[in-house]
Amino acid sequence: MTYIVIYSSVTGNTKQVAEAIADELPQGTPCVRAQDAPEDLSRYDVVCLGFWANQLQADALAQTVLTRIHNDKVALFMTCGVPPMMKHAKDTMSAAISLLPEGQTPIDTFICQGKVDPKVIALMYKKFPKGHPHGQSKERDERHKEGATHPDANDIALAKEFARRI
Ligand SMILES: Cc1cc2nc3c(=O)[nH]c(=O)nc-3n(C[C@H](O)[C@H](O)[C@H](O)COP(=O)(O)O)c2cc1C
Repeated sequence: MTYIVIYSSVTGNTKQVAEAIADELPQGTPCVRAQDAPEDLSRYDVVCLGFWANQLQADALAQTVLTRIHNDKVALFMTCGVPPMMKHAKDTMSAAISLLPEGQTPIDTFICQGKVDPKVIALMYKKFPKGHPHGQSKERDERHKEGATHPDANDIALAKEFARRI
């Protein structure tokens, strides 16, 4: 089986998870940024694509790859600002799956919490007033504080388990 890991990452969380996954796949498996993804993906049996959550969807750069995966097998992973069990995280993964070419279903998915850049948090708090669903709240502050340690060692172990499954 031939594999390729492709990822989109701005602040490094998804890159870190992508590298852990590629490490666990057969030696020599390429691990490339979405902007460097080969035009022709047909020589790979399995495409493993990682993206970051942006407003309930895969980030725009990852979307340009998502829509052109016609391979036999595709696996998706995502990092996001919320814990993976939250509905928001699952809905974001479902939205990304819906962008795959028709009939394409991932053989597996993995969601990992990732720290949110403090500059982004500050911008959000400035944009949305307290009381607004996206504004500052005790719960949101706590989530960002807890999220600041992710991806952690346990997340990386789970990412490697995902790689072994695919
Ligand atoms: C513009 C922007 C929008 C975001 N939107 C969401 C979102 O809708 N849901 C979410 O859970 N996280 C959101 N995040 C958090 C990122 O998905 C999270 O920090 C991710 O791990 C970043 O990945 P990276 O370090 O690979 O760039 C957003 C971050 C940015 C910068």
